[in-house]
Amino acid sequence: MPVVLIANPKGGVGKSTLATHVAGYFANQGHAVMLGDVDRQQSSRLWLGLRPAQVAPIQGWDAEGEEGLLRPPRGTTHAVLDSPAGLHGKRLKQVLALADQVLVPLQPSLFDIYATSDFVHRLLERTEGKAGKRVALVGMRVGGRTLAAGQLREFVARLDVPVVTELRDTQNYVQLAARGLTLFDVAPGRVQRDLAQWEPLMRWLDGRPAGPAASGNP
Ligand SMILES: Nc1ncnc2c1ncn2[C@@H]1O[C@H](COP(=O)(O)OP(=O)(O)O)[C@@H](O)[C@H]1O
Ligand SMILES: [Mg+2]
Repeated sequence: MPVVLIANPKGGVGKSTLATHVAGYFANQGHAVMLGDVDRQQSSRLWLGLRPAQVAPIQGWDAEGEEGLLRPPRGTTHAVLDSPAGLHGKRLKQVLALADQVLVPLQPSLFDIYATSDFVHRLLERTEGKAGKRVALVGMRVGGRTLAAGQLREFVARLDVPVVTELRDTQNYVQLAARGLTLFDVAPGRVQRDLAQWEPLMRWLDGRPAGPAASGNP
């Protein structure tokens, strides 16, 4: 069973947004999904509480055991783990031990880029040579032709990690989150541009081969 960890030591970079969406994607594929939170803010749990009964179900997963982290319960086929800012050291090691796939959201800001660079190096040290562990970056709130987006691309080109996609800055994410929803729960026509940006990420999550390169924003 794939466990997808969403991690970045910086706060506000889009971890919970990404975690809820990855869970929403799997749920809409008909999978038995659990969304867990090792974040004290428990954003994912809060979001689950807002999720309407009539959309594809996502179960909560209490990953915090008495003595460290718990594996997802039986019956789950897909698990997604949201994580707190400042994740490092022993805690990072514990959380990584659970994860098969790690997604690192990253915003095109100089400070975020520097903080993430260190983190990605540490991640790679810990996952290198471990069969089946995959790490990828996701550009968050990226404006297609902005200077910041250019800096971001230049930076990630030097890292040994793929960037699966870039997601644009849009109120869609903010508004959907407020209702416990994801892009995958609403009429596709309303969020077509965003779904197109998710396409390469869906492939990556499913372990399908990469399709044509993701296009930037107009
Ligand atoms: N692509 C996006 N476009 C617009 N707003 C976004 C996007 N991604 C995240 N946000 C907003 O940014 C804020 C921080 O995101 P969040 O997912 O809570 O970050 P983290 O979990 O890393 O602290 C939230 O208000 C969220 O709605
Ligand atoms: Mg969060």
